[in-house]
Amino acid sequence: MDTLTIVGCQFGDEGKGKIIDYLSCNYDLSVRFNGGENAGHTVVTDGNTIKYHLVPAGFLRARTSVIANGVVINLRKLNEEIDFLSRFRGSFELKISNLAHIVTDLHIERDRYLESLRGKGSIGTTLRGIGPAYESKFGRYGIRLEDFKDPKVLEEKLGFLSYIYNIPKKQGMVEDLIHYYEKISTFITDTSEYLREEIDEGSSALFETAQGTFIDVEFGTYPFVTSSHTITGGVTVGTGLSPKYFGKFLGVAKAYTTRVGEGYFPTEIEGEDAERLRKLGNEYGATTGRPRRIGYLDIPMLRRSVKLNSLDYIALTKTDVLGRFKNIKVGVSYIKDGSELKEYDPNKRVDKVEYVSFEPWEDNRSNLNKFIEFIEDEIGVPVALLGSGEKREDIEKRHLI
Ligand code: IMP
Repeated sequence: MDTLTIVGCQFGDEGKGKIIDYLSCNYDLSVRFNGGENAGHTVVTDGNTIKYHLVPAGFLRARTSVIANGVVINLRKLNEEIDFLSRFRGSFELKISNLAHIVTDLHIERDRYLESLRGKGSIGTTLRGIGPAYESKFGRYGIRLEDFKDPKVLEEKLGFLSYIYNIPKKQGMVEDLIHYYEKISTFITDTSEYLREEIDEGSSALFETAQGTFIDVEFGTYPFVTSSHTITGGVTVGTGLSPKYFGKFLGVAKAYTTRVGEGYFPTEIEGEDAERLRKLGNEYGATTGRPRRIGYLDIPMLRRSVKLNSLDYIALTKTDVLGRFKNIKVGVSYIKDGSELKEYDPNKRVDKVEYVSFEPWEDNRSNLNKFIEFIEDEIGVPVALLGSGEKREDIEKRHLI
């Protein structure tokens, strides 16, 4: 069975899109299994910058792309994305789960409302209705693509949602949803069954999470998290495939750390250094354009990520950006109440981070090698891929995956 699952090791925006795009030519199927259009995977190829939000980032190169049941879908946005992507690949095969839940304007309004209620304690969501969409799914009043088969069911469910939220439905909302549904209806199928059959018959598959390990709804810096499972464990329920289908796990980590939205971030830096690294790395949200918070690479965080996700290897991205930064540091352990801690715990604030420094490597490859070998020694898994630029050609393979 040839399946590989890719997750983000930090708070998201690790550069997963580039890695997925790079690897996807080796796979028949490219599968996305969580999140919604809060995600933004940027891929630069043949002079084009492509931003994926709902469609898997292997769309251009894998035979078939699959949006599995764990994803929450804004139908208008998905239509726009498919229209945009079809400029780069005229003929493609796409499968969308009939069990996927949709995100409506009511969910988006609810997201805004909840964030305003939280006031100073706001999460800093992307305001794309993602939390409310998962809330309605688990509250058992969500709307699935399956519900569009009977417009009466759809209308009733929208009515109930509007009643719960106390937000009136806008005129034309049902008609708009049906219009967007109809445009993609030929792609909709039982993707769990489809994936099982394909893989059983020998197809290879690349599974991708959106977001990063530490904004997982369960294992992240709760409540400052997204509302889905972003860790490798999420791939089974997010696709409807049993754990037997998964054996190889790759984590993507940026050579430094960034975060959008609120929440605990031990190696965060502020001031001039943060601003310089933000500019060097163009660290602004792909979905919302918000400036990302900046920090050093956090080894205790990677250690935890390797364990939580059972990672076999990592891909280290943006090493070119960090190599141009003059003040390179890496957090190696924490101090809490006088004791040394080797692993990140999202629920525990530490008193201090212990750092080691590295020489810049813009003009000195051996300094970069020292940095990589140090990380490998500390986290116990190899850096299989190295990203040192925006383009596909800027990825170096160091180990067989
Ligand atoms: P939500 O997913 O829009 O509910 O936002 C919840 C938290 O997850 C916020 O801190 C967001 O900034 C963060 N978040 C959601 N999607 C992404 C992503 O793709 N990259 C990084 N952070 C994200």
